[in-house]
Amino acid sequence: MSRKPVIALVATGGTIAGRADSATDTTAYTAGTLGANELVAAVPGLGDIAELRAETLFRVDSKDMTPGHWLTLARRVAELAEQADVDGVVVTHGTDTLEESAFFLHLTLTTDKPVVFTAAMRPASALSADGPMNLYGAVRVAASPAFRGLGTLVVMNDRVYSARHVAKQHTRAVDAFGATDGEPLGWASPPTLARRPARTEHGDVPLAGLDTANWPPAVEILYVGAGSSPALLAACRQLGAAGAILALPGNGSMPASWMGEIEAAIAAGFPLVRASRVPAGAVSPHDGLPGLLCADGLSPVKARVALMLSLAQADPAVFVRIAG
Ligand code: SIN
Repeated sequence: MSRKPVIALVATGGTIAGRADSATDTTAYTAGTLGANELVAAVPGLGDIAELRAETLFRVDSKDMTPGHWLTLARRVAELAEQADVDGVVVTHGTDTLEESAFFLHLTLTTDKPVVFTAAMRPASALSADGPMNLYGAVRVAASPAFRGLGTLVVMNDRVYSARHVAKQHTRAVDAFGATDGEPLGWASPPTLARRPARTEHGDVPLAGLDTANWPPAVEILYVGAGSSPALLAACRQLGAAGAILALPGNGSMPASWMGEIEAAIAAGFPLVRASRVPAGAVSPHDGLPGLLCADGLSPVKARVALMLSLAQADPAVFVRIAG
């Protein structure tokens, strides 16, 4: 490419845009304070590697992101990616629910241009803030032809992850993110694709065909501890949930005390997914209960995104296709 790559940057808030009163304060700060142009201005040399088109879409702390925000963000990123002279899109986001937003875009965007999320664990005002280097790396990856066609990606701490497998794995460490299927896909400095993901399909539920009339379907996650009450599942159905994810121990192991409620839910046609509380590895299928969906390698939060999309399309096969 002889011209400088054009990268669209969409800021949504988070700690990367956060500010505290003192440079040594890394916990008491307000997320989502800075806008997109201020994030760009804080990264020396960014203008040398790409022409940036920056905009601020939201200024939210990502704990307050909703499926409505996912939809608005996906629509805006799709518009930007459709522009012929845009080579890639970077989204800045809070770390807390980044994996859900990124997976929603991974499943709904069909572009082959790199869409790269990044974030920070330390606010922009902190000593040794990690946001500027993460943003620099994300722009380099978004501009790199090696990362085309892989769906939505995440750059954190110089590593590149697929949105399908990335997870926040530490509450406070700067190196907070990892991949549930092992190693990262590659590196941001310089942009290097070390391995291709086992599954490169993305855009399973294209945005253009997504039925948003009843968006979002109410899908809840039930975290099952030793001795947890199965009445949680009954209550979830009584409260009108459209479906639920069971975050179960081990390999999606269902406690004996829960079997009655699980069987009753399936018999009533209630969409229910067996997922695992364990942070890595896949859940094996369970032949005994046809109708009970299996999260396979999806974490409970990602299985929830997949089930919401599946329910929006009124088609359980969508979930099976995404998880499989
Ligand atoms: C947020 O998720 O918006 C706040 C926390 C963070 O970005 O690390």
